[in-house]
Amino acid sequence: MNNGSRNSFLWGAATSSYQIEGNIENDHSAWSRLGKLGNNGHNYSAGTAADHWQRWQSDFSLLPELGVNSYRFSLEWARIEPEPGVINQAALDQYSKMIDHLLSLNITPMITLHHFTHPHWFIEKTPWHRPSSVGQFMKYVELVTNRLLDRVPYVITINEPLVWLLAGYGDAKFPPAEKNLDHLMQALHNMLMAHREAYDYIKSKYPKTEIGIAHNFISFRVDRKGNVMDEAVKRKVHYFYNMMLPQAFKSNRLQFRFPFLIRYDSPISLDDKIDFWGINYYYRMRVRFRFNVRRPFDFFFKENPKKGVSDLGWEIYPRGLEKICKWLASTGKPLIITENGIAAVDDTQRVRYLQLHLGTVQKLITEGQPIIGYYHWSFLDNYEWLIGTSAKFGLVDVDFSNGLHRTMKPSGLFYKTHIQNQQLHSE
Ligand code: FCB
Repeated sequence: MNNGSRNSFLWGAATSSYQIEGNIENDHSAWSRLGKLGNNGHNYSAGTAADHWQRWQSDFSLLPELGVNSYRFSLEWARIEPEPGVINQAALDQYSKMIDHLLSLNITPMITLHHFTHPHWFIEKTPWHRPSSVGQFMKYVELVTNRLLDRVPYVITINEPLVWLLAGYGDAKFPPAEKNLDHLMQALHNMLMAHREAYDYIKSKYPKTEIGIAHNFISFRVDRKGNVMDEAVKRKVHYFYNMMLPQAFKSNRLQFRFPFLIRYDSPISLDDKIDFWGINYYYRMRVRFRFNVRRPFDFFFKENPKKGVSDLGWEIYPRGLEKICKWLASTGKPLIITENGIAAVDDTQRVRYLQLHLGTVQKLITEGQPIIGYYHWSFLDNYEWLIGTSAKFGLVDVDFSNGLHRTMKPSGLFYKTHIQNQQLHSE
């Protein structure tokens, strides 16, 4: 029944399950209980988060108030398969109702299959650097494809593979918390193969479903202009972080070398099986070379004197979106901005951020860039990874100290007006 047809630009808001649903038992909550996600005295866990699992119906009634025609959310694998092969039918039923409800509101669902979290048993038994991870993931994908994806025209297989891998195998902040770059590359290889297998399986059932990856992009800038070492490091880091994945899809080769750190070169049969590139874009970062073989560079933010920074210090740099479109031109694929947003307690900062970034999106579309959708991160205030609920990304306020009460923010209304104006224009 999935006709996957789309006539108009996708205007959306995005979330992920662990960040909003509440009371999820997964690898993060298990590690938090064991004190392994603790840092600076904080015990990182989403806890009840925004309690969306109980309040989804009233939350969804806010989507039309935002004027969006699409909503991006993720399925929590750990809810669906709490133990290997044990399926929680009630969870599948609820996700199914959520999809139906969105459709009844004329809101196109976009579903993410993997957004950073796993069942605890997956990370213990078959973490991503083991080849058996792919088969294990595919069992879950087959289940949800058959049960849920018949009504879902847009699917993101994996959210930000490199962000998750760098946290899981680089600086050991997420489970399995290893510091092992060989494992990181093997795990990336397996994740990309999992994408390919998921792509083939979903297409075999619903050929018109559009399937992509949401890739995080950073606009890097050298700290010292003209410094050859900063430039050399920046080129490497840019390739690794931004371009290695798009290249692998084109060339069927996953390849990266960084002296003393990584040497990986392997064929990989991706066969360009991706229908769109999801762009998750937030900020610009500085790169600076260091004389240290183990850690030959530093990354950091500097305040943009004209545009400022977010509450998390992230440099606001809308031009980054233009650069990303240029980088991705050679892929020949449609582009969807699957995340873009700002942590700001002061909502006027979010309005400004929206103005700047939506203005850039508009300009890019006018110039003929193949952008077919924009999803603001986030629909609701939520639990931010390893930070907690103090980082306010929502278009809708969630009062974490007062019964999780929801209130539309002025930025939500600003977004709605922007969407309405654009729709009037394109009629
Ligand atoms: C992205 C994540 C998303 C959210 C935003 C702020 O990297 O995909 O879950 O945490 O950052």
